[in-house]
Amino acid sequence: MPLPTIEWEGDISGRVRLIDQTLLPTELKFVYCEDIKSIWHAIKTLMVRGAPAIGIAAAMGVVLGIKDIHAKHTDAFLRELKQVTTYLGTSRPTAVNLFWGLARMERVAQENKGKSVQEIKEILLQEALKIQNEDKVICRQIGENGVGLIKDDSGILTHCNAGGLATADYGTALAVLFKAKEQGKRITVYADETRPLLQGARLTAWELLHAGIDVTLICDNMAAHVMKLGKVQYVIVGADRIAANGDTANKIGTFGVSILAKEHGIPFYVAAPVSTFDLTIKSGDEIPIEERSPEEVTNGFGKRTAPEGIKVFNPAFDITPAKNITAIITEKGVIQKPSVENIRRILG
Ligand code: MRU
Repeated sequence: MPLPTIEWEGDISGRVRLIDQTLLPTELKFVYCEDIKSIWHAIKTLMVRGAPAIGIAAAMGVVLGIKDIHAKHTDAFLRELKQVTTYLGTSRPTAVNLFWGLARMERVAQENKGKSVQEIKEILLQEALKIQNEDKVICRQIGENGVGLIKDDSGILTHCNAGGLATADYGTALAVLFKAKEQGKRITVYADETRPLLQGARLTAWELLHAGIDVTLICDNMAAHVMKLGKVQYVIVGADRIAANGDTANKIGTFGVSILAKEHGIPFYVAAPVSTFDLTIKSGDEIPIEERSPEEVTNGFGKRTAPEGIKVFNPAFDITPAKNITAIITEKGVIQKPSVENIRRILG
């Protein structure tokens, strides 16, 4: 069953319905966003998270934002639209899909500036739905393109959640695993718990269990030992932003996993749509890394686990250098040995 991660309900004056991912796996609850502030809050607080899903939320957020624009003339409308996209762009800094989604909505509005405000509003709703539908197709294609890399009877480690919940449906890294299962390949997945917000334990483990995939949960600090025991033949993770040279931002801890994989001679794959590439930046050094609140570390899920007054550093992402990445699986094909040239050859 596809996961209804994020949906638009109704016409141009409708609303966004999304699964509140902060409550999973113990509670499957929908949240309704009726205005731009509530979708900004949903993105900021990780009710909706994962790079492609954030891109879709941003596009639908634009539609929520323009509901309140009463400008009669297109020029005034476009000026107010810019305020909408600027505001949504402040929700989270790292996943480039957010900015990609916002830029695409702005571009479509500009391309249609000869039309009436009402017509442009309708076009923008259709564009947001198009982004969502395209993502479904893209995820399936990533699964198709990646599955050939996985041999029968293998162990795969993944970090964070790059599944259906992180996309319109089916996922990126998990798409490869879902496809392997569909083809009858015997796979065992090791899901890193993914401190501090436990996307691996709460979301990846939940999704894989429901898909009937053999999954074992491990704490992040167990990965080296599990690799040493020979239980892992591949690592597959998602991405939040990939620079022109292949350096990849993903959930904090991914860089460490890539070093462990290298040490053990295990191929390290990144699965991501073309919309996660940011070819305007040369390397991972330029990727902004989100820092989140100390309470996520000291007070995770309601229990204080550190002394009052302790200093905390809580970066939400890190950068895996291209040299640690065996290949990047995209909907356009597999980029072996990511580099400026190899990326350009596949992305065009
Ligand atoms: O902070 P999050 O939960 O949004 O981080 C998500 C990740 O790091 C995912 O691995 C990434 O967005 C890829 S999702 C297909």
